[in-house]
Amino acid sequence: MMKPEDNELLVRVGPGTAMGALFRRFWLPVMLSDELSEPDCTPVRVNVLGEKLIAFRDTNGRIGLLDAYCTHRRANLFWGRNEDCGLRCVYHGWKFDVDGNCVDVPNAPDGDRLKQNMSTIAYPTMERGSMIWAYLGPRELMPAPPATEVFEAPASHRVIRKIVARGNYLQFMEGDIDSSHVSFLHSNVDNTPLAGSRVTPFAYQDKTPRWTIKPTDYGLMLAAQRNAGPDNYSWRINQWLLPFATLIAAPKDWPFTTNVRVPIDDENSMQFRIWTHPDRPLTDKEIETSQGGVIFPEMIPGTFETKENASNDYLIDRENQRTRTYTGIKGIPSQDLAVTQDQGGGPIADRSRERLTSSDTAIVFMRKRLLDAVKALQQGIEPPEAQNAAAYRVRPIDTVLPRGVDLESGTAADTMKIVA
Ligand code: FES
Ligand SMILES: [Fe+2]
Repeated sequence: MMKPEDNELLVRVGPGTAMGALFRRFWLPVMLSDELSEPDCTPVRVNVLGEKLIAFRDTNGRIGLLDAYCTHRRANLFWGRNEDCGLRCVYHGWKFDVDGNCVDVPNAPDGDRLKQNMSTIAYPTMERGSMIWAYLGPRELMPAPPATEVFEAPASHRVIRKIVARGNYLQFMEGDIDSSHVSFLHSNVDNTPLAGSRVTPFAYQDKTPRWTIKPTDYGLMLAAQRNAGPDNYSWRINQWLLPFATLIAAPKDWPFTTNVRVPIDDENSMQFRIWTHPDRPLTDKEIETSQGGVIFPEMIPGTFETKENASNDYLIDRENQRTRTYTGIKGIPSQDLAVTQDQGGGPIADRSRERLTSSDTAIVFMRKRLLDAVKALQQGIEPPEAQNAAAYRVRPIDTVLPRGVDLESGTAADTMKIVA
């Protein structure tokens, strides 16, 4: 059971909050590259960590991420004209470049002098892994981006989707590391995997995973052990990257899922769901499989909202639930959303009212790691993970090993090749 004040500490992410400060020590994906499809395209609203921003791609292809509200009288730059290397406010014509410099004040006779002091907030950005990333923290602490292969692989190696999830980031991220739920939420009633899914059958045969958890330089290595016949164990070894991502194991040579969780504000978050094979392009068959509604949900066209959502009870099919699938809800992400979106009755889960068991060990470890990092930062101790981008170069793995192998021995670490 978590103290209510610790729960508050973890879920509040706006400017001036402790967890918000921790997130602001890391590069975060804030939108898909496709959302800014070409130079001088339409500006886009970006809401992240409780801040309202506007993104645009200028005439030279550079990306700007500015305070949404003009420095003059705070009109919304969303209405702005993206023209000739800058975004021009349509209220009185002031113009800003991607670095936030005010480059034109056309409504004042001394505008050329005034503009020197009218710059706006502009955050550094970069494009990586078909996503646009931003750094919202102190400039002098700006780190290198995490060296995770998923974020570096060419576009041919992945399918990616952005989903807006109507709830606090933390409960969704807890679902990502919760190996136990796979045996139930994502199963068929006959204890087989969902058609089109990529989960080892052992997850459905042994529903009581045992955890081996290793704190690492990037976060946590989370190994869930299940029986795989009399002589072997199945190991699903996921990687949790502090503070925002989980690499989820898939059996050998299958693409694996990465879920990145970025808070929009305290009650909403972005999910970047990435299905990747880091070593090779995805095959046509794999891409087709990924579009079947199980690995990626169907979306409402022109939005980042899933077709199956809270307003329609995720299109739950009770007859299907009685006879075929455990939930009666079609896809894996929709099944996840249904159970995590309103845990405890609202968009922010109240962790002081839970009853945890050993199956929740990974979640306990993650919460503690985040709490320790937040409390350290409150004391002025910077998170070392932010400055250790190279440590983030890890993979998840789903494998079967003889029962005698000890994951902590080092031999097993070699066997598993968890570090690329
Ligand atoms: S409010 Fe933007 S130019 Fe006046
Ligand atoms: Fe899940």
